[in-house]
Amino acid sequence: MSNQTRAKVVCHMMVTLDGKINGEAYNCDNYEYFGKTYYDVEVRHFPASKVCIIGRKSNEGGIETVTDLPPLPEGTVISREEDFIVPFEEPLEDGTHWNCIVDPRGVFAPKDRILKMDSFPYYDGDRIVSVVTQKQPSDVFLYYLQQKKIPYIFAGDEKLDCAVAVEKLSRYLNEKIIMLHGGPTLNGSFLKDGVIDELSLLQVPIQSNNPADLPLFTSMKEDEILPPLQLNLLACESLQHSGLWLHYEVKK
Ligand SMILES: NC(=O)c1ccc[n+]([C@@H]2O[C@H](COP(=O)([O-])OP(=O)(O)OC[C@H]3O[C@@H](n4cnc5c(N)ncnc54)[C@H](OP(=O)(O)O)[C@@H]3O)[C@@H](O)[C@H]2O)c1
Repeated sequence: MSNQTRAKVVCHMMVTLDGKINGEAYNCDNYEYFGKTYYDVEVRHFPASKVCIIGRKSNEGGIETVTDLPPLPEGTVISREEDFIVPFEEPLEDGTHWNCIVDPRGVFAPKDRILKMDSFPYYDGDRIVSVVTQKQPSDVFLYYLQQKKIPYIFAGDEKLDCAVAVEKLSRYLNEKIIMLHGGPTLNGSFLKDGVIDELSLLQVPIQSNNPADLPLFTSMKEDEILPPLQLNLLACESLQHSGLWLHYEVKK
């Protein structure tokens, strides 16, 4: 699939003035407002988007998982070529999304296929999709996803291939916009693979000053420097409590 036909990827994140995405500084005045506004801004500016991609670590604690997976019935063959996409045929409920968890090793086994999140109404009712590599997940893990009717797609052989993930999700779900929700490791992988088209940043009026807090993009490899980005501002909006929404396109 060419660049023209794959969905546009918008990296949507909350940042401090010094570009940090987590840490103590977020224990700030009006954080509740900014947490809610992060989702409101997305719904308002990207209403067509029904697919979001998020890293395995960012989901830790938020989604209930199981560790004790049932054994594979004797004689079961799990294909490493065919994506498991039958569940895509069942349409989404209105206002919900395909919530795609990037889990290259196949270690994140959700308890249910549908997200139940009272504290995060934006995600409530979303359907889970697992993005895995071909060689790393066990047969037991993939079989578990099949039994739970959780679709999975293979993106890369041994290493995650972000472009393949985007191409397959665009094609299978007929999507024009895909939202990338971080965290920084996943964002860094998408940046490196050249598949981020726009940044949508909710800038909270705080300064972290803590070098240990995570930036917008990090590499999987400690000594690797990710390529710089040049951006064009497409739109900006003042929010309540001195917040800003900044919308950039990535110069290619
Ligand atoms: N401010 C915001 O808007 C925002 C949004 C989202 C998240 N966050 C924060 O971000 C933090 C988590 O970010 P994170 O960077 O630690 O984790 P992450 O990006 O959510 O997930 C990283 C994991 O994804 C897998 N992965 C990603 N790229 C890969 C690649 N190229 N090859 C192989 N595996 C890859 C790996 O899983 P395995 O380890 O299983 O191999 C890796 O450990 C949390 O503090 C969260 O609160 C903030």
